[in-house]
Amino acid sequence: MPLRELLDEHRGEELDLYARTINPQFVRLLRTIGFDRRWARAEGAYLYDADGTRFLDLLGGFGMYNVGRNNPRVRAALVEALELETPGKVQLGISPLPGLLASALLERAPSSLGRVLFTSSGTEAVEAALKLGRAATGRSKVVSCEHGFHGLTLGSLSAAGDAAFSARFGPLLPGFSRVPFDDLDALEEALRGEDVAVFIVEPVQGHGPQFPHDHYLAGAQELCRRYGTLFCVDEVQTGFGRTGRMFALDHWGLEPDLLTVAKSLSGGYVPVGALLMSTTVYDAVFDSLEHSVSHGSTFAPNDLAMAAGLATLDELDAQHLSERAARMGELLLERTLPLVERYEVVKGVRGLGLIWAIEFEEPAGGSRSWRMLERVQTGLFAQLVVVPLFSDHKILSQVSGHDSNVIKILPPLVLSENDVDWFVEALEATLARAEKLPRAMVRFAIRAARANVPSRAKRGEKPAPRKMRSIFRG
Ligand SMILES: Cc1ncc(COP(=O)(O)O)c(C=O)c1O
Repeated sequence: MPLRELLDEHRGEELDLYARTINPQFVRLLRTIGFDRRWARAEGAYLYDADGTRFLDLLGGFGMYNVGRNNPRVRAALVEALELETPGKVQLGISPLPGLLASALLERAPSSLGRVLFTSSGTEAVEAALKLGRAATGRSKVVSCEHGFHGLTLGSLSAAGDAAFSARFGPLLPGFSRVPFDDLDALEEALRGEDVAVFIVEPVQGHGPQFPHDHYLAGAQELCRRYGTLFCVDEVQTGFGRTGRMFALDHWGLEPDLLTVAKSLSGGYVPVGALLMSTTVYDAVFDSLEHSVSHGSTFAPNDLAMAAGLATLDELDAQHLSERAARMGELLLERTLPLVERYEVVKGVRGLGLIWAIEFEEPAGGSRSWRMLERVQTGLFAQLVVVPLFSDHKILSQVSGHDSNVIKILPPLVLSENDVDWFVEALEATLARAEKLPRAMVRFAIRAARANVPSRAKRGEKPAPRKMRSIFRG
């Protein structure tokens, strides 16, 4: 049956169908917080629901739509690749597109990187970095950062800096330890034994988000060099213009041994990721014919992902999207920094390019309602802002990380000045109301936060409500 007819036939059934066949708990969560829209279409920085209402998408698919949703240049490249009937994966043979995308990536990456290994996701790129890093150094230890996030497969989870993601899935891989982010003394202590294969770090920690001091990453790279540890920068979230430069590492002129990317590389159309590595790492691992296929996976690199990747890089250049992210990010900060003075509940606003966040705190002098919310769940106030932003102002955003009162956004980089106005005005209106913590709002938040308890209790488990926002891995 043609896709259009199939979709017409099942119009309006998506939530029930998803609940029946894929993940009923997730559908329940969406219904609880009122995010159970029926989505019909998307374009640029906008999502449209079945009634044709336009929403501003500040979540950007957790940062995978840097060139905008349904980008016409990327779509045209995909159509062309399909029409050309490209060879696809020969497996025992080579097609032209992977080499072309690898060249385009290496041209834009630091000169320390000389080879590309494609994957189908960010976590697989991280797995490759860990695996190849161990083989290249002959060491097994891996150091990562507290509150870091690198994906949800077991290797990446072993490097995760928040136990909330890994609890229940152990045992994890041996040899992993964590140091505080932005702390060079702690890192030196961890590397000094000269037995660490890889230090993996996000240049800007997605959870938080946390921005490093100016000297930290260059200092970390220097320590890695001194102690023979491979320096791995995870740019799965920060890559491709997000922070106002092609890669966040460009802000500090870093020259890593390993660089992981994914998310926006295919314009959000096709799963793709990549590990960029130095030729030294490559030569150490792929050191013979026998070892020429030491790592890989069936679908990576597939021609559609490669075609989309090439078009995405072209689009980033043609539309100057890194520069635009820098400009819009500055505007956003300029417009939102005054909120710190204006609202007691706003602790701070921070951002780099189009990764931006606002943090809340209990108003000076104390607030009973605030404390009541915090007792139920840390960070519930932020949820009280995210929900009306969505339902009243048609803006999709998220609460970030664990145990923090932070809203974070990762919009498509095509965001316009009007979109920034839309967001800032909506945020002000929502804050003005939420700061007073009206009783109905507090009741809603507590009800929503507790929505998970009954099913656990029914199963005879300890009623430890899974935090709503902990499912959001931005
Ligand atoms: C820094 C970082 N690394 C790795 C990943 C995992 O990527 P994926 O979800 O494509 O597996 C993410 C995802 O959010 C990420 O932010």
